[in-house]
Amino acid sequence: MKLTAREEDILAGKCGKGRKKSMELLVAVGEVFGAENMVPASSSHLVIPEIQLFPKGKEAEWGMEITRKLIDGVEKFAIPATINAFVLDLEKAEVLNIPAKFVDDIRPIFESSQKIYEAKGAIPNYSCTPFFDFFYRQGDHLGGAESIQVLFNNSVNGARVNRETGPTSLAVAVTGVTPNYGLHLTRNRAGQILFELGDDLDAGAFTDADYNALGYFAGRAAVEKIPVFKGLPDTMNEIDLKYLCVPLAVTAGIAMIHVVGVTPEAPTLEAAFGGKRPEEVMVVGRKELQSSYERLNTARTNYLEYIALGCPHCSIRELREIAQLLRGRKVNHNVVLFVATSTIKYELAKRMGLVKEIEDAGGVVVKGMCPGASIFGRYGQELEVTAVATNSSKNAHYIGAHSGGHVKTLFGSKEQCIEAAIAGKW
Ligand code: F3S
Repeated sequence: MKLTAREEDILAGKCGKGRKKSMELLVAVGEVFGAENMVPASSSHLVIPEIQLFPKGKEAEWGMEITRKLIDGVEKFAIPATINAFVLDLEKAEVLNIPAKFVDDIRPIFESSQKIYEAKGAIPNYSCTPFFDFFYRQGDHLGGAESIQVLFNNSVNGARVNRETGPTSLAVAVTGVTPNYGLHLTRNRAGQILFELGDDLDAGAFTDADYNALGYFAGRAAVEKIPVFKGLPDTMNEIDLKYLCVPLAVTAGIAMIHVVGVTPEAPTLEAAFGGKRPEEVMVVGRKELQSSYERLNTARTNYLEYIALGCPHCSIRELREIAQLLRGRKVNHNVVLFVATSTIKYELAKRMGLVKEIEDAGGVVVKGMCPGASIFGRYGQELEVTAVATNSSKNAHYIGAHSGGHVKTLFGSKEQCIEAAIAGKW
């Protein structure tokens, strides 16, 4: 790779051990992917190292070891950095019925993250939706782990970011640069496969679950090709877009989509494909959406213990909608309904009275916590949880996968989830 004088200095160790190690990692990644140079990154999104490899074990120790090497001697990150969702909201563990022994296990990890990341200037948003709290400009180069952050920023904001690992996103925060390959390059961002909605679908009436089901199906069909969606309403809001995007990194390794009229690079269908013809065209109808629902509903009874909303984390609009659905109603005492958002949106929602409204109805609003995939996926069996309902395909998919199929899932719209919370059954 052709490096600037400053980048060469970092690589030579003139700016400290951690920066040298970080640059070595980025150069190695750049060389593997054929990058010719580095580009300045405007921000990076970090994951807490042990979380990826949770619970404790050899791999988690390896995660911590590499983290220590990358930040050795680094006082502050070179660019703004945000932090992904954590496994648990420690303050709400009791109302979530999480036993103290798990909390004791989890607490030191959170505290180590505070020491490592927050002390170096990272923003403690603890959220997978930093795009609801910060401004990402079209053409910005970003570093960042967490697939929804990558998908939303590429597809909705027009920023440029690859699917990355925890260590590389940390190295970007340390050095302020990222290797120029993949989706950082215009030539790799054009759409490849067209998804058209069938006549039997009314996209104007889509629920959040329908957007999930569409994305879940499209990921399975597209595999690695960049999907282009035609026929979706131009009234799609940030909630619809996040639920359309999120499954594409679950059923496939997709890091970008085009929604004609929404994606900055896709004002027209022709522009979405970069002036070329689609490699493939697929029509998605009710039958295809139904196949997603069937895969995501693994529970065979209407019994459930938890209802988890906010994967990816809720925007204020979504929190308002949930509060409205709960108004004048009470969550059944047999179930726990919880709703996740960022630490930032939590404070705003508190000030707006939304946290109180949801909690007065018997729900729980958690901040900075991944609502389900982590806690139920990894601890579900020990916690003896048998079924969780959710409006998120990612949450449903990972709860099942991470728990080895032990925890079953019920998947539907947030309206269905709220009805289940009131009734105490699906
Ligand atoms: Fe976010 Fe956790 Fe879902 S990180 S996207 S809430 S699985």
